[in-house]
Amino acid sequence: MSEGALPFLPYGRQTIEDDDVAAVAAALRADFLTTGPTVEAFETAFKRRVGAGHAIAVANGTATLHLAMLALGVGQDDVCIVPSVTFLATANCARYVGAEVVFADVDPASGLMTPDTLAEALKRAGDRRVRAVLPVHLRGDVCDLPALRDLAAGAGAVLVEDAPHALGSVAAFDGTPHPVGDGAFSSFASFSFHPVKTLATGEGGMLTTNDAALAARARSLRSHGMVRPAGAEPWWYEMPELGFNYRIPDVLCALGISQLAKLDRFVARRRALTALYADKLAALAPTVRLATSPAWSDPALHLLTVLIDFEAAGTTRRAVVEALKAHGVGSQVHYIPVHRQPYYQARYGALDLPGADAWYARCLTLPLYPGMEDGDVDRVVEALAGALGL
Ligand SMILES: Cc1ncc(COP(=O)(O)O)c(C=O)c1O
Repeated sequence: MSEGALPFLPYGRQTIEDDDVAAVAAALRADFLTTGPTVEAFETAFKRRVGAGHAIAVANGTATLHLAMLALGVGQDDVCIVPSVTFLATANCARYVGAEVVFADVDPASGLMTPDTLAEALKRAGDRRVRAVLPVHLRGDVCDLPALRDLAAGAGAVLVEDAPHALGSVAAFDGTPHPVGDGAFSSFASFSFHPVKTLATGEGGMLTTNDAALAARARSLRSHGMVRPAGAEPWWYEMPELGFNYRIPDVLCALGISQLAKLDRFVARRRALTALYADKLAALAPTVRLATSPAWSDPALHLLTVLIDFEAAGTTRRAVVEALKAHGVGSQVHYIPVHRQPYYQARYGALDLPGADAWYARCLTLPLYPGMEDGDVDRVVEALAGALGL
């Protein structure tokens, strides 16, 4: 069969259906293109879905993290602890407010920050003031939030969950299921609706929290720091502190509401595809293994990441990526450890984070999105087996 005739399978892709398009078209014909009633409607639907007290819709996931730092009052002379295996934004948000980053190592089998790697990072922070710890629910698997929360609290810090990969994931730490974003263990949880994520609005993000004061602060900082005091003249607004324009338009929130209504279906399909992958990939062990899920985590995987022993297979990641591409299969690396980025190396020097380096040496993300057919999983696994000579 000519592989060239088959559609290319990217590592991630949005699922936009006719009713999503209709929802956007209706919003375009309505009165507000920017901040109108659809923003609040999206926030209400989202907070109900994840079980949080408050949700604040924001322009993108990076702005969402920046707002969390601002609302918490993190600033110069403060330290934030960030796992090195994450997207740049998790660390950058600390730098936006002048705080320093201490990178935590990760478990090389799951890619997650653990209580041990956090404890070690806290030691390296020394007597500096640690204000926030930002666990990343990498791929969709949930970090050990109760233990991380307790360790952070012992150091006087709070958790800000960077959760764009984990919308729809659930964790049962104490037998009670916690949807990611319910705010049971953290001050804020942050989501992104970038197209490869589980829910897409193009650009977009959401902060959730159970703290009314933090929610109000994030809300005013989202729009220049403006507040409208109760009882003031109808035109009156005040700016007690400096904020930003991090608003998300009504049009994108209309798409968000339409997508959110399908979240159960998207999650079910992601789980079914993940189970198929687990079944098919078993034949490629031990050279290829799925990243491991902690016992408490019931993930709605955003990324299907495998760990490959390229050396044992007598090849390189580059050769495998190129061979997959030649067979119409996209792949990606999540992530280059952030502590290895030139900006952070120049600032903090060389760091030894063996878990992050071991993860990076082996990780490769394969296609996973609701629009994939069951047969696409066979195609990906066959292409991978061929690329590895298995
Ligand atoms: C872990 C993580 N944090 C933060 C972000 C930033 O989100 P956005 O691209 O919406 O700014 C992303 C998305 O790429 C992400 O994957």
